This record gives sequence, C-alpha cells and structure tokens, in this order.
Amino acid sequence: MAVSARPTLDAHKLRADFPVFEHPIHGKPLAFLDSAVTSQKPRHVLDAMREFYETSYSNVHRGVYTLSERATEGYEGAREKVRAFVNASSTREVIFTRQATEALNLVAYAWGLDNLGPGDLAVVTELEHHSNFVPWQQIAKRTGAEFRMLPIDDLGELRMDLLDEVVGDAPVKVVAANLVSNSLGTINPVERLAAWAHERGAIMVVDAAQAAPHRRIDVQTLGADFVAFSSHKMCGPTGVGVLWGRRELLEAMSPFNYGGSMIRSVKVEETLWNELPYKFEAGTPAIAEAYGLGVAIDYLESVGLEAIEEHEHELAAYALEQLAELPFVTVYGPPPERRVGLVSFNVDGVHPHDVAQVLDWEGVAIRAGHHCCQPLMSRLGVAATNRASFYLYTVPEEIDRLVAGLRKVKEVLG
Ligand SMILES: Cc1ncc(COP(=O)(O)O)c(C=O)c1O
Repeated sequence: MAVSARPTLDAHKLRADFPVFEHPIHGKPLAFLDSAVTSQKPRHVLDAMREFYETSYSNVHRGVYTLSERATEGYEGAREKVRAFVNASSTREVIFTRQATEALNLVAYAWGLDNLGPGDLAVVTELEHHSNFVPWQQIAKRTGAEFRMLPIDDLGELRMDLLDEVVGDAPVKVVAANLVSNSLGTINPVERLAAWAHERGAIMVVDAAQAAPHRRIDVQTLGADFVAFSSHKMCGPTGVGVLWGRRELLEAMSPFNYGGSMIRSVKVEETLWNELPYKFEAGTPAIAEAYGLGVAIDYLESVGLEAIEEHEHELAAYALEQLAELPFVTVYGPPPERRVGLVSFNVDGVHPHDVAQVLDWEGVAIRAGHHCCQPLMSRLGVAATNRASFYLYTVPEEIDRLVAGLRKVKEVLG
C-alpha cells in the first residue's frame, strides 16, 4: 500500500475550536471567508488569555513580586515561541510591536532615516499593502531618496526580469516586498529578491503579514534582513505584532520610540539604550496579547503549518475551479500552485460592496474594497475587488455557498 506523506487537516473538526461558528448570521451558519483581514480565535487562545489575566497579570520586567514575575515569564515565554516559530537564532532579534504596520514603520523610520539620503533608491513592488509602501515613499521623501516600484505582469506576479531596468545604476539601499500578496494571493519569490538586493548592497524588508499565518517561515533561509507580521491574522489577539531583524542591523539602529523600558540609564546630558530587543519596546507592551500570540503559535503548530498550507491550497484550487463556472465573474491573480488560499474577483456590472452586502444576507462574509492596495487596483484597472480568503477552519461547503450567493447576486443585481 502506498503511504501518503501529505499532511492532512480536518477543517470540519477544527471548526469546533472556534466559538464564533456557533452563532448564526441572519439566521444562517456563518461562512467566514475573510481570514486575510483577520482570523477568528480558537477557544485555546481565548481561555488562556482569560486565565492569564486572572492568575498571572501585572506589568513585566519591573516587579520583584510573584505576579510580575509570572507576567514576565508569560511575555518572554511568548517571545521564545515566536523565535522558534520563525527559526530566529536568538530572542534578541524578536521585537514585539503593535502589528505588522508598526513593525514596518519601525524599520522605515529607525533604519531609513539614518541610512537613506539624496540619490539613494528605495524599491517596493506593485503588490504592496499600503503599510509596506507608504512608509518607504514618505521616508524617501524626507531623506531625498528616490522611490520606485517593481511592476507585476497580467497574472499578478512580480516582473523579476525588470529589476535591473527599474533600478538602473542608482544606489539601491532597500527593497521592500511582501511574501504573499493580500490582494491576489501571489506567493512572491522573496529569496530571489533578497539575493538580488544583497548583491546590490541593499537590505531586504519582508512583509509576512499574509505568509506567517499560512506557511512555514524560516528567517535563516529566507535571506531577508527584516520580517514583519501580525498576531491577529494567525489566530492570536489584536494589539501585538512581530518584527524580526538581523541582530547587527538592529544593534546599529537608533530607537523608534523613546520612553520607559528602552533605556539603560538616563542623565540630563545623555541617555543610553537598553539591550535588544528592549531598545525597541518602549512603554508597557501588550502583555496578555503577546502571551495569547504564544498560545496561538502552539495551536498552529499542533495543527501543522504544512497541513494548513496544503489545505488552503486545495481550497484555492477548488474556489478557482468553481468561480470559472460563472461567466459573469472575473478572477484576478496567478494559478493555484503559485497562490495561497485567497481569491480576488469582480462580478460584471455589480459594485463589490453590493456583492458583499448580498452575500452577508446569506451568512457569507467576504471583503470588498481596495484592500489597502490602491497602486495595485490602478494596475488592474478597477477601484475595488471582492476577496474571499480561507484558513484552517474553512470548509469547501463555504465556497459552495459563496458560489450560490454569487449566482443570487447576478439574479438580483446583475
Ligand atoms: C500584506 C499585508 N501587510 C500588512 C498588513 C497590515 O496588517 P496590520 O493591519 O495587522 O498591521 C496587512 C493587513 O491586511 C496585509 O495584508
């Protein structure tokens, strides 16, 4: 008998871990197809955070009493879980931020302001979320650096062949790209991009907000210098995110925020910074939330990142197949083998907001809008798209309900 090495996941069973599915929407079971915007939370995380607040909560790194020690243990324990999750070599390289957006701003401000200057070049891609686009655009403006964009092809994939042409002879200092596009689901060749950036003497900043929840990331083989992601998209709570950075770069950077916890000593004449990672964690952090992120990581690891990736890949292929049956639907993005579990589309003649509204009546939650990717929307020639995105708790029946809902949209509004 052949033995299958494919990882498996039982999404029907996993749904029982998520209390949100016990509550109907408009009298119908919830089909939550908007996990790219934020994921739902398993009981494990909800219960653990409640218990943490009830038994182990105080401020961290400050008290010499038991509760504060427990809180510090919980917070620093979560940092170690994040370290292992992305295979960082040290917890010193793992900085807790508010979310991916703050992590990316931290790099743009703390590294960019001191390392970019007139004539230098910052390169982003046409696929970027605004949070990895606008910070570089603005810091380039403040420092006199140039800001350019690597275009995509008609399938929504990076034109790697144009890299040299886009950059020319300019001294490129930073390349910023997402690992997975939140609008099209494209999986980007970040390792190749990082190798190219390093050849040219630039650093590579990776927005992994849509990657970390869905596929295994190894920061030691990715080749990036900074990697950012958010807890809330990976079964964890809001209010906490992660910046991983290469130690030597972090050591050389100035702090992003000033205040408590990030100092070693303060005198009128001079202030000295705390060691990593605390230099970048000014003020009281999101303590219980970081703890909750650690529990979410345990949960994802217990399911298996490989199984999650495989499951979502099958769902994407199924969704693309089903949507292809609808002649009034235009689908954007690459083929299933080069995308995650996410599908962007439009219904001919119907505004995406109206599509999402009708689907909501059916209990189907999808996204409608520009997905914080206005340069990409311009490239696609649309103001907005609809987007259905999947996670470990998504079942094929929800995609069937999406497709049935779209037929209804066409009937009612088309
Ligand atoms: C690719 C990508 N980058 C960054 C972000 C920003 O995430 P957050 O709002 O959690 O900072 C998002 C959120 O949708 C995203 O999809």
